[in-house]
Amino acid sequence: MIIIGTDHAGFELKEYIKKILEEERIEYIDVTPEYVKDDDYTDMTESVCLEVKDNNMGIAICGTGIGSSMFANKFRGIRAAVCYDKYTAEMTRKDNNANVLCLGGRTDIGKDINKIKEIVITFIKTNFSNENRHIRRLNKMTEIESRR
Ligand code: RB5
Repeated sequence: MIIIGTDHAGFELKEYIKKILEEERIEYIDVTPEYVKDDDYTDMTESVCLEVKDNNMGIAICGTGIGSSMFANKFRGIRAAVCYDKYTAEMTRKDNNANVLCLGGRTDIGKDINKIKEIVITFIKTNFSNENRHIRRLNKMTEIESRR
């Protein structure tokens, strides 16, 4: 199950990604079904992150993907990554066990539907490597949450 959301800057991209998910028969919940002019990326990112559990993933879209990733990473258990090609999508799943994909609707990548398809499918279908060195690094991320 994919939880998908966008602010006003990524609505068109979100609609396109929903079509990809439907073609691939991947179930999703759209937390932002209506276009809202000048809404805040923080609000939809919160809606996405609160629904992301151990066995599902989120896709959060804003203009750059950056604001939503910064906000998403404030939530315990969320590992959000801005991906801009197949490689970053694959590696952030294998190495970082990322569970929220952040995309920028106003970026060159966000306007390239073929690249977006590749990124979305790769992110969803790649598993975490489960290698000890990556588990160790992710544990350090969890530890840091309680240090500040
Ligand atoms: C909205 O205009 C824009 O600032 C936002 O979508 C995003 O790019 C923030 O990071």
